[in-house]
Amino acid sequence: MNKILILTLTLTPLLTHMSATAAQDDTIGLTAHNIFDNRTSLGLSAKIKHRQLVNMRAQMAATQAIIGLLAEEKFEKAAKISRAKLGLTDEMKQIYGLSKNEDFKKLGLDFHNSADELATTLQSKDLKKSLQALRNTMGYCVQCHNKFRQ
Ligand code: HEC
Repeated sequence: MNKILILTLTLTPLLTHMSATAAQDDTIGLTAHNIFDNRTSLGLSAKIKHRQLVNMRAQMAATQAIIGLLAEEKFEKAAKISRAKLGLTDEMKQIYGLSKNEDFKKLGLDFHNSADELATTLQSKDLKKSLQALRNTMGYCVQCHNKFRQ
């Protein structure tokens, strides 16, 4: 009896802590860091995995550059980066063309098309519209990362 009581007293704080942590993770939506990663795997080869991550890091850097240029109201330069680094280039058409996952392919192509639209909006030199277009393009980053993993 005493042993059970001691065990209960010892475990209760631990269990309370564990459920609090789970609730916290849930509210901030750390899906990729949960023990169960429910995202669809793309089943990529090692070479394509590497190439994808290199491209992704370049896309992240381009997004940062665009934000900085927007703050300085350098719209033409921001438009150039958007088209060249995030737009639908032949390389990107080729990469997504290779994918067997239709959902992933569509998201990727829509993303790159949205970056070309972003470039056109940036050329209008309208800051508010440009920020909205950037938000739209970044929505694809968020959507795809929620759905897919390598
Ligand atoms: C069509 C899908 C898709 C889109 C759109 C997309 N990504 Fe990714 N990204 C991925 C996948 C898949 C991975 C690999 C994730 C994994 O396996 O956990 C990834 C990984 C990354 C990584 C990790 C790189 C590393 O070296 O670990 C970064 C950073 C990243 N993406 C940035 C971006 C940014 C910024 C955007 C938008 C401007 C973007 N991605 C748009 C699919 C996408």
